Amino acid sequence: MKILAGSKKGNVNLILIRNQKIPKNLTKEQKAFLEFQNYKGEGNLFVPYGNIYLVSIDEESSFCNSIRDAFFLAINFLKKLNIKTLSLNVESIKEAKEACEGILLGNYTFEDFKEKKSETTLEEIYLNSTKIPQQDLETIILEAHIIADSVNYVRNLINTPPMQATPEFIAKDAQKLAKELNLECKVLDSKDLEKEKMGAFLAVAKASVNSPFLVHLSYKPKKSKNKNIPKFVFVGKGLTYDSGGLSLKPGDYMTTMKADKSGACAVLGILQSVAKLGLEAEVHGILGLAENMIGGNAYKPDDILISRSGKSIEVRNTDAEGRLVLADCLSYASELEPNYLLDLATLTGACVVALGEYTTGVMGYNSKLQHSFLMSANNAGELSAILPFNPYLKKLYKSEVADLCNIPSSRYGSAISAGMFLGEFVPKSLQDKWLHLDIAGPAYVEKSWGVNPFGASGAGVRACVEFIKNNIKEK
Ligand code: BES
Ligand code: ZN
Ligand code: ZN
Repeated sequence: MKILAGSKKGNVNLILIRNQKIPKNLTKEQKAFLEFQNYKGEGNLFVPYGNIYLVSIDEESSFCNSIRDAFFLAINFLKKLNIKTLSLNVESIKEAKEACEGILLGNYTFEDFKEKKSETTLEEIYLNSTKIPQQDLETIILEAHIIADSVNYVRNLINTPPMQATPEFIAKDAQKLAKELNLECKVLDSKDLEKEKMGAFLAVAKASVNSPFLVHLSYKPKKSKNKNIPKFVFVGKGLTYDSGGLSLKPGDYMTTMKADKSGACAVLGILQSVAKLGLEAEVHGILGLAENMIGGNAYKPDDILISRSGKSIEVRNTDAEGRLVLADCLSYASELEPNYLLDLATLTGACVVALGEYTTGVMGYNSKLQHSFLMSANNAGELSAILPFNPYLKKLYKSEVADLCNIPSSRYGSAISAGMFLGEFVPKSLQDKWLHLDIAGPAYVEKSWGVNPFGASGAGVRACVEFIKNNIKEK
Protein backbone atom coordinates (compact mmCIF):
# COMPACT_ATOMS: atom_id res chain seq x y z
CA MET A 1 0.00 0.00 0.00
CA LYS A 2 1.36 3.35 -1.04
CA ILE A 3 0.58 6.93 -0.13
CA LEU A 4 1.10 9.50 -2.89
CA ALA A 5 0.94 13.27 -2.95
CA GLY A 6 -1.81 14.24 -5.38
CA SER A 7 -5.38 15.32 -5.76
CA LYS A 8 -6.61 12.38 -7.82
CA LYS A 9 -10.10 11.27 -6.83
CA GLY A 10 -10.15 7.92 -5.08
CA ASN A 11 -12.83 5.21 -5.08
CA VAL A 12 -13.56 6.39 -1.57
CA ASN A 13 -12.97 9.91 -0.33
CA LEU A 14 -11.90 10.23 3.32
CA ILE A 15 -13.23 13.28 5.11
CA LEU A 16 -11.86 14.48 8.42
CA ILE A 17 -14.40 15.34 11.07
CA ARG A 18 -12.63 17.75 13.42
CA ASN A 19 -14.08 18.15 16.90
CA GLN A 20 -17.37 16.57 15.85
CA LYS A 21 -18.06 19.27 13.24
CA ILE A 22 -19.90 17.64 10.36
CA PRO A 23 -19.19 19.38 7.01
CA LYS A 24 -22.00 21.42 5.52
CA ASN A 25 -21.45 20.50 1.87
CA LEU A 26 -22.94 17.00 2.05
CA THR A 27 -25.61 15.80 -0.35
CA LYS A 28 -29.23 15.27 0.67
CA GLU A 29 -28.77 11.49 0.70
CA GLN A 30 -25.61 11.74 2.79
CA LYS A 31 -27.31 14.00 5.33
CA ALA A 32 -30.26 11.62 5.53
CA PHE A 33 -27.91 8.68 6.03
CA LEU A 34 -26.09 10.42 8.90
CA GLU A 35 -29.39 11.18 10.51
CA PHE A 36 -30.54 7.59 10.07
CA GLN A 37 -27.29 6.39 11.70
CA ASN A 38 -27.77 8.96 14.48
CA TYR A 39 -24.21 10.13 13.71
CA LYS A 40 -23.12 13.12 15.78
CA GLY A 41 -19.50 13.32 14.61
CA GLU A 42 -18.04 10.79 17.00
CA GLY A 43 -16.28 7.74 15.59
CA ASN A 44 -15.63 6.77 11.98
CA LEU A 45 -18.41 6.08 9.52
CA PHE A 46 -18.68 4.82 5.95
CA VAL A 47 -21.34 6.64 3.96
CA PRO A 48 -22.28 4.62 0.88
CA TYR A 49 -23.91 7.56 -0.94
CA GLY A 50 -21.06 9.06 -2.99
CA ASN A 51 -18.59 6.75 -1.23
CA ILE A 52 -17.30 8.93 1.55
CA TYR A 53 -15.70 7.74 4.77
CA LEU A 54 -15.76 10.02 7.78
CA VAL A 55 -12.69 9.95 10.05
CA SER A 56 -13.39 11.55 13.37
CA ILE A 57 -10.48 13.24 15.15
CA ASP A 58 -10.41 15.31 18.28
CA GLU A 59 -7.97 18.18 17.76
CA GLU A 60 -8.34 19.48 21.28
CA SER A 61 -7.47 16.17 22.84
CA SER A 62 -4.33 16.28 24.96
CA PHE A 63 -3.68 12.68 24.00
CA CYS A 64 -1.05 12.47 21.32
CA ASN A 65 -2.49 9.63 19.34
CA SER A 66 -5.95 10.59 18.23
CA ILE A 67 -5.30 11.19 14.49
CA ARG A 68 -3.07 8.13 14.13
CA ASP A 69 -5.56 5.95 15.99
CA ALA A 70 -8.49 7.16 13.88
CA PHE A 71 -6.61 6.28 10.68
CA PHE A 72 -5.62 2.88 12.07
CA LEU A 73 -9.33 2.12 12.39
CA ALA A 74 -10.06 3.67 8.98
CA ILE A 75 -7.55 1.59 7.08
CA ASN A 76 -8.58 -1.61 8.82
CA PHE A 77 -12.15 -1.01 7.69
CA LEU A 78 -11.39 0.24 4.18
CA LYS A 79 -8.89 -2.44 3.19
CA LYS A 80 -11.70 -4.99 3.40
CA LEU A 81 -13.74 -3.18 0.71
CA ASN A 82 -13.31 -4.02 -2.95
CA ILE A 83 -11.64 -0.74 -3.91
CA LYS A 84 -8.29 0.30 -5.34
CA THR A 85 -7.78 3.91 -4.30
CA LEU A 86 -8.56 6.35 -1.53
CA SER A 87 -8.20 10.10 -1.40
CA LEU A 88 -7.79 12.45 1.53
CA ASN A 89 -7.47 16.18 2.00
CA VAL A 90 -5.56 17.48 5.03
CA GLU A 91 -5.14 20.96 6.45
CA SER A 92 -1.91 20.77 8.42
CA ILE A 93 1.47 19.06 8.55
CA LYS A 94 0.40 17.34 11.76
CA GLU A 95 -2.69 15.89 10.08
CA ALA A 96 -0.67 14.73 7.06
CA LYS A 97 2.08 13.08 9.12
CA GLU A 98 -0.19 11.36 11.61
CA ALA A 99 -2.68 10.19 8.98
CA CYS A 100 0.16 8.59 6.99
CA GLU A 101 1.54 6.88 10.09
CA GLY A 102 -1.86 5.58 11.19
CA ILE A 103 -2.47 4.14 7.72
CA LEU A 104 0.95 2.54 7.23
CA LEU A 105 1.21 1.13 10.75
CA GLY A 106 -2.41 0.03 10.69
CA ASN A 107 -1.95 -1.88 7.48
CA TYR A 108 0.53 -4.31 9.10
CA THR A 109 -0.26 -8.01 9.40
CA PHE A 110 1.91 -10.96 10.36
CA GLU A 111 0.69 -13.90 8.31
CA ASP A 112 3.89 -15.77 7.38
CA PHE A 113 2.59 -18.91 9.04
CA LYS A 114 -1.01 -18.78 7.84
CA GLU A 115 -2.17 -20.72 4.85
CA LYS A 116 -4.95 -18.26 4.13
CA LYS A 117 -3.60 -14.73 3.96
CA SER A 118 -5.84 -11.70 4.08
CA GLU A 119 -6.11 -10.01 0.74
CA THR A 120 -6.82 -6.45 -0.23
CA THR A 121 -7.40 -4.67 -3.51
CA LEU A 122 -6.44 -1.33 -1.98
CA GLU A 123 -3.23 0.00 -3.55
CA GLU A 124 -2.97 3.75 -3.43
CA ILE A 125 -3.95 6.61 -1.18
CA TYR A 126 -3.82 10.13 -2.62
CA LEU A 127 -3.04 12.78 -0.07
CA ASN A 128 -3.51 16.42 -0.92
CA SER A 129 -3.63 19.78 0.75
CA THR A 130 -4.21 23.35 -0.31
CA LYS A 131 -2.33 24.50 2.79
CA ILE A 132 0.93 22.53 2.49
CA PRO A 133 3.37 23.05 -0.43
CA GLN A 134 3.58 19.96 -2.68
CA GLN A 135 7.29 19.51 -1.93
CA ASP A 136 6.70 19.47 1.84
CA LEU A 137 3.82 17.05 1.47
CA GLU A 138 6.05 14.69 -0.52
CA THR A 139 8.73 14.86 2.19
CA ILE A 140 6.20 14.10 4.94
CA ILE A 141 4.92 11.09 2.99
CA LEU A 142 8.42 9.78 2.26
CA GLU A 143 9.49 10.07 5.90
CA ALA A 144 6.30 8.39 7.10
CA HIS A 145 6.98 5.50 4.70
CA ILE A 146 10.57 5.14 5.97
CA ILE A 147 9.63 5.15 9.63
CA ALA A 148 6.58 2.91 9.25
CA ASP A 149 8.63 0.45 7.15
CA SER A 150 11.19 0.28 9.98
CA VAL A 151 8.51 -0.24 12.63
CA ASN A 152 6.95 -2.99 10.51
CA TYR A 153 10.35 -4.59 9.87
CA VAL A 154 10.94 -4.67 13.64
CA ARG A 155 7.46 -6.10 14.22
CA ASN A 156 8.22 -8.90 11.74
CA LEU A 157 11.47 -9.82 13.45
CA ILE A 158 9.93 -9.86 16.93
CA ASN A 159 6.89 -11.84 15.77
CA THR A 160 9.11 -14.52 14.21
CA PRO A 161 8.91 -17.56 16.51
CA PRO A 162 11.90 -18.36 18.72
CA MET A 163 12.62 -21.68 16.97
CA GLN A 164 13.55 -19.59 13.93
CA ALA A 165 14.59 -16.25 15.37
CA THR A 166 17.67 -17.39 17.31
CA PRO A 167 20.56 -15.07 18.23
CA GLU A 168 22.36 -16.18 15.06
CA PHE A 169 19.28 -15.46 12.92
CA ILE A 170 19.02 -11.90 14.27
CA ALA A 171 22.76 -11.37 13.85
CA LYS A 172 22.51 -12.49 10.21
CA ASP A 173 19.58 -10.16 9.66
CA ALA A 174 21.66 -7.31 11.07
CA GLN A 175 24.44 -8.17 8.60
CA LYS A 176 21.92 -8.16 5.77
CA LEU A 177 20.63 -4.76 6.85
CA ALA A 178 24.19 -3.44 7.08
CA LYS A 179 24.93 -4.58 3.55
CA GLU A 180 21.77 -3.00 2.15
CA LEU A 181 22.38 0.34 3.84
CA ASN A 182 26.16 0.55 3.84
CA LEU A 183 26.49 0.32 7.59
CA GLU A 184 29.53 -1.01 9.36
CA CYS A 185 28.74 -4.28 11.14
CA LYS A 186 30.83 -6.22 13.64
CA VAL A 187 29.54 -9.53 14.95
CA LEU A 188 31.12 -10.92 18.12
CA ASP A 189 30.61 -14.65 18.74
CA SER A 190 31.00 -16.45 22.07
CA LYS A 191 34.80 -16.70 21.69
CA ASP A 192 34.96 -12.93 21.16
CA LEU A 193 32.70 -12.40 24.15
CA GLU A 194 35.14 -14.43 26.22
CA LYS A 195 38.01 -12.27 24.99
CA GLU A 196 35.96 -9.25 26.00
CA LYS A 197 35.55 -10.85 29.46
CA MET A 198 31.76 -10.58 29.25
CA GLY A 199 31.17 -13.00 32.10
CA ALA A 200 27.64 -11.79 32.87
CA PHE A 201 26.42 -11.95 29.23
CA LEU A 202 27.99 -15.39 28.67
CA ALA A 203 26.48 -16.89 31.82
CA VAL A 204 22.94 -16.12 30.64
CA ALA A 205 23.52 -17.91 27.32
CA LYS A 206 25.30 -20.96 28.77
CA ALA A 207 22.46 -23.49 28.77
CA SER A 208 21.24 -22.74 25.27
CA VAL A 209 22.16 -24.73 22.18
CA ASN A 210 21.86 -21.43 20.32
CA SER A 211 25.03 -19.49 21.05
CA PRO A 212 25.05 -15.79 21.88
CA PHE A 213 26.16 -12.91 19.66
CA LEU A 214 26.87 -9.27 20.16
CA VAL A 215 26.20 -7.15 17.09
CA HIS A 216 27.73 -3.70 16.70
CA LEU A 217 26.31 -1.65 13.82
CA SER A 218 27.42 1.85 12.99
CA TYR A 219 26.17 4.58 10.73
CA LYS A 220 28.02 7.72 9.71
CA PRO A 221 26.51 10.28 7.32
CA LYS A 222 28.16 10.20 3.89
CA LYS A 223 29.48 13.68 3.26
CA SER A 224 28.72 15.62 6.35
CA LYS A 225 28.93 19.42 6.14
CA ASN A 226 29.13 19.55 9.88
CA LYS A 227 32.23 17.98 11.41
CA ASN A 228 30.93 18.28 14.93
CA ILE A 229 28.06 15.79 14.66
CA PRO A 230 26.64 14.16 17.80
CA LYS A 231 27.24 10.50 18.56
CA PHE A 232 24.30 8.33 19.65
CA VAL A 233 24.70 4.78 20.94
CA PHE A 234 21.66 2.52 21.32
CA VAL A 235 21.92 -0.74 23.25
CA GLY A 236 19.16 -3.35 22.92
CA LYS A 237 18.21 -6.35 25.06
CA GLY A 238 17.96 -9.25 22.63
CA LEU A 239 16.75 -12.31 24.52
CA THR A 240 15.40 -14.36 21.63
CA TYR A 241 13.71 -16.41 24.33
CA ASP A 242 13.42 -15.92 28.07
CA SER A 243 12.27 -19.12 29.75
CA GLY A 244 13.48 -17.69 33.06
CA GLY A 245 16.34 -20.20 33.16
CA LEU A 246 16.56 -22.38 36.29
CA SER A 247 14.34 -19.82 38.05
CA LEU A 248 11.85 -21.06 35.45
CA LYS A 249 8.88 -18.92 34.55
CA PRO A 250 5.41 -20.40 35.12
CA GLY A 251 3.76 -21.44 31.83
CA ASP A 252 1.41 -18.46 31.66
CA TYR A 253 4.26 -16.01 31.99
CA MET A 254 6.51 -17.76 29.49
CA THR A 255 4.29 -17.26 26.45
CA THR A 256 5.12 -14.00 24.65
CA MET A 257 8.75 -14.24 25.79
CA LYS A 258 9.82 -14.42 22.14
CA ALA A 259 9.26 -10.68 22.46
CA ASP A 260 12.12 -10.39 24.95
CA LYS A 261 14.26 -9.47 21.95
CA SER A 262 12.21 -6.33 21.31
CA GLY A 263 14.91 -3.91 22.48
CA ALA A 264 17.54 -5.33 20.13
CA CYS A 265 15.11 -5.48 17.20
CA ALA A 266 14.05 -1.87 17.84
CA VAL A 267 17.72 -0.85 17.65
CA LEU A 268 17.90 -2.43 14.18
CA GLY A 269 14.83 -0.46 13.13
CA ILE A 270 16.29 2.79 14.49
CA LEU A 271 19.48 2.29 12.46
CA GLN A 272 17.48 1.44 9.37
CA SER A 273 15.45 4.65 9.60
CA VAL A 274 18.46 6.81 10.46
CA ALA A 275 20.37 5.51 7.43
CA LYS A 276 17.42 5.87 5.04
CA LEU A 277 16.72 9.39 6.29
CA GLY A 278 20.43 10.20 6.05
CA LEU A 279 20.42 11.95 9.42
CA GLU A 280 23.40 14.14 10.36
CA ALA A 281 24.51 12.06 13.33
CA GLU A 282 26.83 9.18 14.07
CA VAL A 283 24.63 6.35 15.32
CA HIS A 284 25.72 3.02 16.78
CA GLY A 285 23.59 0.02 17.66
CA ILE A 286 24.71 -2.66 20.11
CA LEU A 287 22.58 -5.81 20.26
CA GLY A 288 23.00 -8.29 23.10
CA LEU A 289 21.61 -11.52 21.63
CA ALA A 290 21.16 -14.64 23.76
CA GLU A 291 18.65 -17.26 24.83
CA ASN A 292 17.87 -17.86 28.52
CA MET A 293 17.29 -21.62 28.87
CA ILE A 294 17.56 -24.49 31.33
CA GLY A 295 19.97 -27.45 31.22
CA GLY A 296 22.85 -29.17 32.98
CA ASN A 297 25.14 -26.37 31.98
CA ALA A 298 22.84 -23.55 33.07
CA TYR A 299 23.98 -20.67 35.26
CA LYS A 300 22.47 -20.92 38.69
CA PRO A 301 21.09 -18.89 41.55
CA ASP A 302 24.15 -18.61 43.89
CA ASP A 303 26.63 -18.24 41.03
CA ILE A 304 28.89 -15.20 41.16
CA LEU A 305 29.70 -13.68 37.78
CA ILE A 306 32.51 -11.34 36.85
CA SER A 307 31.22 -8.72 34.46
CA ARG A 308 33.24 -6.99 31.74
CA SER A 309 33.59 -3.92 33.96
CA GLY A 310 35.23 -6.07 36.66
CA LYS A 311 32.28 -5.80 39.06
CA SER A 312 31.11 -9.13 40.46
CA ILE A 313 27.41 -10.04 40.45
CA GLU A 314 25.70 -12.54 42.73
CA VAL A 315 22.93 -14.38 40.87
CA ARG A 316 19.85 -14.90 43.00
CA ASN A 317 17.36 -15.30 40.19
CA THR A 318 18.23 -16.44 36.67
CA ASP A 319 15.09 -14.75 35.35
CA ALA A 320 16.67 -11.34 35.98
CA GLU A 321 18.91 -12.04 32.98
CA GLY A 322 18.36 -8.94 30.86
CA ARG A 323 20.34 -6.75 33.23
CA LEU A 324 23.27 -9.23 33.08
CA VAL A 325 23.41 -9.10 29.28
CA LEU A 326 22.97 -5.34 29.27
CA ALA A 327 25.60 -4.80 31.99
CA ASP A 328 28.30 -6.08 29.63
CA CYS A 329 26.80 -4.42 26.56
CA LEU A 330 26.62 -1.04 28.32
CA SER A 331 30.23 -1.41 29.42
CA TYR A 332 31.22 -2.13 25.79
CA ALA A 333 29.04 0.73 24.49
CA SER A 334 30.52 3.23 26.94
CA GLU A 335 33.92 2.88 25.31
CA LEU A 336 32.49 4.49 22.18
CA GLU A 337 32.30 7.72 24.21
CA PRO A 338 28.81 8.70 23.07
CA ASN A 339 27.09 12.06 23.52
CA TYR A 340 23.88 10.10 24.05
CA LEU A 341 23.66 6.55 25.38
CA LEU A 342 20.24 4.88 25.41
CA ASP A 343 19.29 1.31 26.18
CA LEU A 344 16.00 -0.31 25.21
CA ALA A 345 14.84 -3.39 27.06
CA THR A 346 11.82 -5.45 27.99
CA LEU A 347 13.44 -5.48 31.40
CA THR A 348 10.82 -5.84 34.11
CA GLY A 349 7.25 -6.96 34.67
CA ALA A 350 7.27 -4.34 37.43
CA CYS A 351 7.40 -1.57 34.82
CA VAL A 352 4.15 -2.91 33.34
CA VAL A 353 2.59 -2.98 36.80
CA ALA A 354 3.71 0.60 37.44
CA LEU A 355 2.76 2.25 34.15
CA GLY A 356 0.38 -0.13 32.38
CA GLU A 357 0.83 -1.91 29.08
CA TYR A 358 0.91 1.18 26.91
CA THR A 359 3.76 3.20 28.36
CA THR A 360 7.56 3.08 28.23
CA GLY A 361 9.40 3.71 31.49
CA VAL A 362 12.12 6.36 31.11
CA MET A 363 14.94 6.29 33.65
CA GLY A 364 18.33 7.85 34.22
CA TYR A 365 20.27 10.47 36.13
CA ASN A 366 19.66 13.45 33.83
CA SER A 367 16.24 14.99 34.24
CA LYS A 368 16.63 17.36 31.26
CA LEU A 369 17.48 14.45 29.00
CA GLN A 370 14.52 12.47 30.32
CA HIS A 371 12.15 15.35 29.56
CA SER A 372 13.65 15.75 26.12
CA PHE A 373 12.92 12.07 25.47
CA LEU A 374 9.37 12.40 26.78
CA MET A 375 8.71 15.24 24.34
CA SER A 376 10.17 13.33 21.39
CA ALA A 377 8.19 10.21 22.23
CA ASN A 378 5.00 12.22 22.55
CA ASN A 379 5.55 13.90 19.17
CA ALA A 380 6.22 10.53 17.61
CA GLY A 381 3.03 9.08 19.07
CA GLU A 382 4.52 6.86 21.77
CA LEU A 383 3.54 7.05 25.42
CA SER A 384 6.32 7.34 27.99
CA ALA A 385 6.73 8.38 31.61
CA ILE A 386 9.61 8.99 33.99
CA LEU A 387 10.29 6.54 36.80
CA PRO A 388 12.53 8.46 39.19
CA PHE A 389 15.72 7.03 40.68
CA ASN A 390 16.48 7.46 44.38
CA PRO A 391 19.37 6.40 46.63
CA TYR A 392 17.21 4.15 48.86
CA LEU A 393 16.33 1.89 45.94
CA LYS A 394 19.98 1.73 44.94
CA LYS A 395 20.81 0.10 48.28
CA LEU A 396 18.44 -2.78 47.52
CA TYR A 397 20.80 -4.61 45.15
CA LYS A 398 23.69 -4.80 47.61
CA SER A 399 25.10 -8.29 48.04
CA GLU A 400 26.80 -9.97 51.01
CA VAL A 401 29.12 -11.96 48.75
CA ALA A 402 29.66 -9.85 45.61
CA ASP A 403 29.72 -6.22 44.48
CA LEU A 404 26.10 -6.38 43.39
CA CYS A 405 23.15 -8.76 43.45
CA ASN A 406 21.10 -9.29 40.28
CA ILE A 407 17.77 -8.88 42.12
CA PRO A 408 16.75 -6.28 44.68
CA SER A 409 16.00 -7.24 48.29
CA SER A 410 12.46 -5.81 47.94
CA ARG A 411 10.05 -6.23 45.06
CA TYR A 412 8.68 -2.72 45.55
CA GLY A 413 9.99 -0.29 42.95
CA SER A 414 11.80 -3.03 41.10
CA ALA A 415 11.51 -1.41 37.65
CA ILE A 416 13.55 1.46 39.08
CA SER A 417 16.03 -0.67 41.02
CA ALA A 418 16.63 -2.69 37.82
CA GLY A 419 17.34 0.58 36.01
CA MET A 420 19.73 1.63 38.77
CA PHE A 421 21.47 -1.75 38.51
CA LEU A 422 22.17 -0.97 34.83
CA GLY A 423 23.48 2.46 35.84
CA GLU A 424 26.27 0.68 37.75
CA PHE A 425 27.73 -0.33 34.38
CA VAL A 426 27.68 3.15 32.89
CA PRO A 427 30.86 5.02 33.86
CA LYS A 428 30.40 8.14 36.01
CA SER A 429 31.47 10.39 33.10
CA LEU A 430 28.56 9.11 30.99
CA GLN A 431 25.80 8.88 33.58
CA ASP A 432 24.21 12.18 32.60
CA LYS A 433 24.23 11.11 28.94
CA TRP A 434 22.42 7.86 29.59
CA LEU A 435 18.74 6.89 29.43
CA HIS A 436 17.23 3.51 30.21
CA LEU A 437 13.95 2.74 28.42
CA ASP A 438 11.93 -0.14 29.83
CA ILE A 439 9.59 -1.20 27.00
CA ALA A 440 8.23 -4.33 28.73
CA GLY A 441 4.69 -2.90 28.57
CA PRO A 442 4.24 -1.62 25.02
CA ALA A 443 6.59 -4.00 23.16
CA TYR A 444 4.04 -6.78 22.76
CA VAL A 445 0.31 -6.31 22.23
CA GLU A 446 -2.15 -9.03 23.14
CA LYS A 447 -5.22 -6.91 22.50
CA SER A 448 -4.97 -4.39 19.66
CA TRP A 449 -4.70 -0.75 20.77
CA GLY A 450 -3.65 2.56 19.21
CA VAL A 451 -1.81 1.90 15.95
CA ASN A 452 -0.94 -1.65 16.99
CA PRO A 453 -2.53 -4.87 15.80
CA PHE A 454 -1.97 -8.08 17.80
CA GLY A 455 1.71 -8.96 18.32
CA ALA A 456 4.88 -6.91 18.37
CA SER A 457 4.40 -3.13 18.28
CA GLY A 458 7.89 -1.96 17.34
CA ALA A 459 7.92 0.22 20.48
CA GLY A 460 10.87 2.58 20.73
CA VAL A 461 11.62 3.02 17.03
CA ARG A 462 9.51 6.10 16.39
CA ALA A 463 10.39 7.72 19.73
CA CYS A 464 14.15 7.21 19.32
CA VAL A 465 14.30 8.40 15.70
CA GLU A 466 12.42 11.54 16.76
CA PHE A 467 14.80 11.91 19.74
CA ILE A 468 17.81 11.81 17.41
CA LYS A 469 16.23 14.35 15.04
CA ASN A 470 15.45 16.75 17.89
CA ASN A 471 18.89 16.47 19.42
CA ILE A 472 20.73 16.99 16.15
CA LYS A 473 19.07 20.39 15.97
CA GLU A 474 20.15 21.28 19.46
CA LYS A 475 23.82 20.41 19.21
N1 BES B 1 11.80 -10.43 30.28
C1 BES B 1 11.40 -10.30 31.61
C2 BES B 1 10.56 -9.05 31.86
C3 BES B 1 9.20 -8.99 31.20
C4 BES B 1 8.08 -9.38 31.88
C5 BES B 1 9.07 -8.48 29.92
C6 BES B 1 6.85 -9.29 31.26
C7 BES B 1 7.83 -8.40 29.32
C8 BES B 1 6.71 -8.79 30.00
C9 BES B 1 12.60 -10.22 32.53
O1 BES B 1 13.73 -10.91 32.12
C10 BES B 1 12.19 -10.81 33.84
O2 BES B 1 11.87 -11.96 33.87
N2 BES B 1 12.20 -10.00 34.90
C11 BES B 1 11.80 -10.42 36.19
C12 BES B 1 12.78 -9.83 37.18
C13 BES B 1 12.65 -10.43 38.56
C14 BES B 1 13.13 -11.85 38.56
C15 BES B 1 13.49 -9.59 39.50
C16 BES B 1 10.38 -9.90 36.43
O3 BES B 1 10.06 -8.81 35.95
O4 BES B 1 9.60 -10.60 37.05
ZN1 ZN C 1 13.75 -12.96 32.69
ZN1 ZN D 1 13.92 -11.14 30.04
